[in-house]
Amino acid sequence: DNCLFMDFQFTEEQLMIRNAARDFARTECLPGVIERDEKMQFPREQIEKLAELGFMGMMVSPEYGGAGLDTASYVLAMEEISKIDASVSVCMSVNNSLVCYGIEAYGTEEQKRKYLTPLAQGKKDGELYIGAFLLSEPEAGSDATSQRTIAEDVGDYYLLNGTKNWITNGNSASVYLVMAQTDAAVGSKGIDVFIVEKSWPGVVVSGKENKMGIRASDTHTILFNDVKVPKENRIGAHGFGFTFAMKTLAGGRIGIASQALGIASGAYELAKEYAKTRKAFGTEIMNHQAIAFKLADMATRVEASRMLCLKAAWDKDNHQDYTLSSSMAKVFASETAMWTSTEAVQIHGGYGYVKEYHVERLMRDAKITQIYEGTSEVQRIVISRTILK
Ligand code: CAA
Ligand code: FAD
Repeated sequence: DNCLFMDFQFTEEQLMIRNAARDFARTECLPGVIERDEKMQFPREQIEKLAELGFMGMMVSPEYGGAGLDTASYVLAMEEISKIDASVSVCMSVNNSLVCYGIEAYGTEEQKRKYLTPLAQGKKDGELYIGAFLLSEPEAGSDATSQRTIAEDVGDYYLLNGTKNWITNGNSASVYLVMAQTDAAVGSKGIDVFIVEKSWPGVVVSGKENKMGIRASDTHTILFNDVKVPKENRIGAHGFGFTFAMKTLAGGRIGIASQALGIASGAYELAKEYAKTRKAFGTEIMNHQAIAFKLADMATRVEASRMLCLKAAWDKDNHQDYTLSSSMAKVFASETAMWTSTEAVQIHGGYGYVKEYHVERLMRDAKITQIYEGTSEVQRIVISRTILK
C-alpha cells in the first residue's frame, strides 16, 4: 500500500511560477547585484517587488494573504532567484518557510490575522513587513538546545532577556520568532517560542556582520533587555519551542537546499556558456575533455540536487514526513553548490577570479549553504539518526 506514483511533468502553474521567477531574477535582481554585494546593501527594492508578485508568502493560504502555491513551485522559484542573487533568496526563504510557515502551522487564529497576513504580503501600511527566525546564540549554534536566552513568566507577561546572533533580516524585519528557555530544569522541553515585534522597548538591533558571501543580506546580533512579551504571543503550548524549531527548520532546509541548487545551476550555466566561446590551443575550451567532463559532472550533480529538492517538496505537499528528505536535499545540494561554483571559477580561468563574471560571487555565496539552517555535519546527524533508528 506504499505505492507512490512519480510524475516528472510540471503543471502549467508550476511552469508559470518558474518563468515569472526567472524573468524577475534577470530584470530586477541582475542589475546592481555586484554593487549590492560589494556595498552590503540590503535589496529592499527587490524584496518589495517580490512581495508584490506574491513571492514572500508563496505557500500561505489565500485566506491569510498568501499565494496558496505548493512547495514544488517554491523550489522552482527559489532556484531561479538564487541563480542570480542569493542575498535576495535567503530573505525570501526565511520569510516563507520559517516565519510564515511557523505561524500558519502552529499559530492561533488571532496570531495569523495579526501577523501572518501582512508577513505573507510582505507589506503593512505601505511599508516593507517581513520576519526573522531567532534560534542561534553565541553559545548555541549546532547545539541548539543550549539556549541562554531566558523568557521568565512573571504573571501577566514574559520578561525576555538574552542575545541572539547571526540573524538574517535582523534589521529589515519587523517581526521576530524568538526561541527562549522558560524552564531550564527540563532542558529542551523547557523552550518556548514567541512572536516579538522589533519596535518593542528593550529590543536592540546590534552589530551588522561583514560577511564572505550573501553580503547584501543583513545579518545582525539582536539583544533583548527586559522585553515584555504578552502571553498571547507564545506560539503553541508551553514547552513546544524546540519541537517548533526542528519542525519548521525541516521545511526551511528545503528552501536553503533550493537556494544551493540555484547557486549550483547558475554557476553551471555560466561555465557552460563560457566554455563554448573561450578559445585556447586553437579551439573552444569545451573541446578539451577535462573541461567537458567537469561540465558533465556539474550537470549530473545539479540534476540530482534538483530531484532531491523536489522529492522533499513532494513529501511535504503530500503530508509525508520530510525530515529525512529535506536534510538529504540540503546536504547534497549545498555540497554540489560549493563544488560546482568552485569548478565554474576554474573553467573561467583568471576571468573567473574577478567580479564581472559573477562566478566568484556564486562561490562565496555557496559556502553559507553548508553552514546555516544546520551545518552539513548536523544534516548528517539527522540523516544517520533516522536511517539507523
Ligand atoms: N521533530 C520533532 N521533535 C524533534 C525533532 C524533530 N525533527 N528533532 C528533535 N526533536 C526532539 C527530540 O525528540 C528530543 O526530544 P526527547 O528528548 O523527548 O527525545 C528533543 O527534540 C531534543 O532533540 P535531540 O536530543 O535530537 O537534540 P540534540 O541536542 O541532539 O540536537 C540537532 C539535534 C539535530 C543537532 C539540532 O540541535 C539541530 O538541528 N541543530 C542545528 C540548529 C539549526 O539548524 N539552526 C538553524 C538556525 S536558523 C538559520 O540558520 C536561518 C538561516 O540561516 C537563513
Ligand atoms: P558550531 O555549532 O559551533 O559548529 C562549529 C563546527 O563544529 C561546525 O563545522 C559544525 O558542523 C561542527 N559541529 C558542531 N557540533 C557537532 C557535532 N555534534 N558533530 C559533528 N560536528 C559538529 N541562525 C538563526 O537562528 N537565524 C538566522 O536567521 C540565521 N542566519 C544566519 C546567517 C548567516 C550568514 C550565518 C553565518 C549564520 C546564520 N544563522 C542563523 C546561524 C547558523 O544557523 C549557525 O551558524 C549554524 O547553525 C552553526 O552554528 P555555529 O555557527 O555556532 O557553529
